This record gives sequence, structure tokens and C-alpha cells, in this order.
Amino acid sequence: MTRHMDIPWWRDAVVYEIYVRSFADASGDGVGDLAGIRERLPYLRDLGVDAVWLTPFYPSPMADGGYDVADYRGVDPLFGTLADFDALVADAHALGLRVLVDVVPNHSSSEHPWFQAALRGEGRDRYIFRDRPNNWQSTFSGPAWTQVDDGSWYLHLFAPEQPDFNWRNPEVREEFLDILRFWLDKGVDGFRIDVAMGLFKAEDLPDVRDQSFMSKSPVWGQPEVHDVYRDWRALLDTYPDERMAVGEVWTDTLEDLALYVRPDELHQSFNFAWLQAPWSATAFRKVIDDTVATVPFATWVLSNHDVVRHRTRYGTADPGTGMARARAALLATLALPGSAYLYQGEELGLPEVENLPPEARQDPVFKRSKGELPGRDGCRVPIPWSARGDSYGFSPEGVKPWLPQPDEFAELSVARQTGDPGSMLEFYRRALACRRELARTVPYGLEWLESSEDVLVFARGPLVCAINCGTEPAPLPPHESVLLSSGPVGGSLPPDTAVWLRRAVS
Ligand code: NOJ
Repeated sequence: MTRHMDIPWWRDAVVYEIYVRSFADASGDGVGDLAGIRERLPYLRDLGVDAVWLTPFYPSPMADGGYDVADYRGVDPLFGTLADFDALVADAHALGLRVLVDVVPNHSSSEHPWFQAALRGEGRDRYIFRDRPNNWQSTFSGPAWTQVDDGSWYLHLFAPEQPDFNWRNPEVREEFLDILRFWLDKGVDGFRIDVAMGLFKAEDLPDVRDQSFMSKSPVWGQPEVHDVYRDWRALLDTYPDERMAVGEVWTDTLEDLALYVRPDELHQSFNFAWLQAPWSATAFRKVIDDTVATVPFATWVLSNHDVVRHRTRYGTADPGTGMARARAALLATLALPGSAYLYQGEELGLPEVENLPPEARQDPVFKRSKGELPGRDGCRVPIPWSARGDSYGFSPEGVKPWLPQPDEFAELSVARQTGDPGSMLEFYRRALACRRELARTVPYGLEWLESSEDVLVFARGPLVCAINCGTEPAPLPPHESVLLSSGPVGGSLPPDTAVWLRRAVS
């Protein structure tokens, strides 16, 4: 599948995140599954992505939607069987799609046999037990410690059902190398690493004065974690066909992020600075400059299953604005050097579903904050495939999906958008096809061209991308032809619009 022998496939890959519970339900229980994904692979091939990333499908009590893993080498019956997984990988590969799976090394489920043994007093050193808790808070609200029957406490940086492993125990290290081997032997092309900066905690577990969200501190980002990724890289390199790993790494600075992608560590890490930037040419330009200057292989992410969908983030009060900006942001994202990670449903322009009834919400963030924080269910609402029915084609007829879909999903469904040249879906298809032609022929780096403050204009060889974040039309940069635009472009570039141009290069 390698197109250019000297450039690794993942450098410019467009990876599509499948949030397994919400993509397609073949079994008819209202929850997405592997067989459902398998049926929809041709859709992804036609969309024009290079790879898929599957969120956890392992046996799990689902206290955190599967990010609480009870068995790292299996498939939860809710999602299918190992045979379904093998068939999915085989079909994906036959269609030219690579497959990444999620690995969750920071914590297991409290139902994991190791934690169950720890509760009985056996092998406690695989987790972090102490006689007294410190003052750390869980990322999902509330204290990060829970007391067990014998009076001691265990650490969980997320829900109490997600006890943190003790990575200072060599048994944990060995176990995860073996888990990686298990999936590599099954033919996966790589891994997405959950909470990749969290594995080690400062040894003495000191109290913290102010624990801001996943910031470098005694809680996150300890230097010992890099040895783990060196081991993982060495393992990946023993396999053929450029197996890779991308880290979910939250850091305060791009310099800290760059530490995770040194040549003998992870291949990539998500660039959350891109999705955290507001709709502003100045903000975007700073993230681009910092990224290109600090990270050897960039990634660009606008949305995922943990954040408010970007159409809504950019939307102000007017959904039309959000939609226009989401289209423009895609052109910027796909024109930048590096790889892009798309989140299922963004190709349909799905909004964040903000008015889910409290009784439908399942995210532990909502539950643990006693409803104070809405949680992440709003970006996880099942995909509308058809314009009608009980679940808009997500589940077989007569079955209600695990989260309710709003009425506007009819208009946004795959069926309604297919063949409509003005739709978001057809726009994504055109943009991905055009990028496929360009990505590996233009130089990796970028050059800024002159523009006013509210407009970004950058070039990579013959490709010029311009995006207008201001409120006034901007002049179009010099060009030979217009390759693609996110909205109507005449003699000038309207606000909230982006364009790809071809220019003459000597
Ligand atoms: C990051 C995952 O993306 C998120 O969904 C999960 O809740 C936490 N890690 C804990 O595993």
C-alpha cells in the first residue's frame, strides 16, 4: 500500500476516527459494532480516507464507553467477536484502508483480573495503592482516590472504575508489550495511545497546589514515560509495513509535545492546539508556525469524541456560520503539511447535540459532576445514514439508538447529502480526492504569502491555500486556477471562506 517508498504512509495520511459505539449497528441492539463498521467500509473508501482508528472495542463494563478495559486481547460481545475483528481488518486492507486500534495503558477497568486480584490483596503493586490519599482530583470531577475494604486507597485519574496502573512495575511494561504484539500479529497498522502522557506519576505523589487540566505537573508528563515509548517504537520497528503509533498527548506547549515524537519514540501525536484555537487568523497562524517549527511530522485535528464538534465551536449563534467555517477549516487542515485526523460525522457537518435529555446522558463526566458539566455525549450521537426511520439507518428498523438523534439529522444524513454537490459530504469527497493528488507531490514545508491580518495565505510549491477569518472580502492571491473552494468565490475571497489555488512556480 506504500505509494512512495521513501515517505512513510502515515506522514500525509488522512485518518478517520470511528467511535465504535456510534458508527453503525448491525446486530440491532442500538449500539454500533464491528460488523456495522465492516458493512460501511466502502463508504470510507469512497470518502477518500487512508486509514481508520477504532476506539476501544475490548471487553469492558463500559463505565467510560470502553476506555475501561477488562481484557486487552478480546472483543466485547456488544461489539462482536475476534473473528469479526479479523474480517474487518481483512476487508479494510482489501479496500486499501489501514487500521489503527486504541491502546489504553494508563488504567484498566476495575473489573480487570489484575485489579480484582489487587482487591483480594494479590499483586497490588500493579496499581497505585496508598494508606492515605493525596489531594489529586480526577479528570472527571471529584477526588482521584477511592478507598477499598481494608482501608487503603487506590489512584484513578479518571473514574473510580478506571484504576491507574503502576508503570514502575516491570510486569506492567511486559504485559503491554505483549498486548501490542497480539494486535500487531493480527495485522493492525498501528495504535492510538490513550492518555499517553499519563503513565508515570511523580514517585512520591506530592500534593499539588493547582491541578489544571492535564498540565505538566507531578500528575502528568513525567520523563520516565519516554523509555516506554522507546521500547514500543523498537517493537513496532521489528514488524514490516511501517506500523505506527500516535499519542493522545495533552501538553502545555508544543515543545513538550515534541518530546514524544523524537525519532526513537512515537511517530505522531495529536495536535490539540489546532482544535483549541479560536476562529482567528492570528491564532491559527501561531499554531501552524509553532507546530511546523517544533514537530517533525505534524498532525491536524479539528474534532474527536472528547470535544465539542467544531461546527458548533465555530458557530457563534448562527449555524450557517459554523457550517461555512467548518468547510473552510477543512481546506486549511488538508492543505497543511502532515496528516489529518477526521472524526466521524464531521463530513456530514454534524453539530454538537446540546439538548440531550439528562436521563439519556451516559458520560461519566456528566454523572460525576452531578450534571454540572454536560460531558461528551453531544459529540457521540449515532451517525444518520438514511433520512428516515427510528435511528436514521444507524440500527436496523424498529431499534432505538443508545443516544437519541435530533430531527435535523434527517437533513444531514448520508443518504440526503450523497449526490448533492452543495452538501458537506460531497465537499469532503472532493477535498479528499484533490488532496490525494497533491499531498505527496507538493513540498512538505510551507511558505507564508502576504495577506491582511484576518486572512491566512500559505503555499506549498504550486498549491496556495487562503482562508478568510475576517468580516470583509479579501483579494484572491495571484493564481493560475482555482482548484477548490469552500464557498462561492468570485473576484475576491468572502469572509468564512477558504480556497485552494494553483500558482505558477519557476
Ligand atoms: C481519553 C479518551 O479519548 C477519553 O474518551 C477517555 O475518557 C479518557 N482518555 C480516559 O481513558
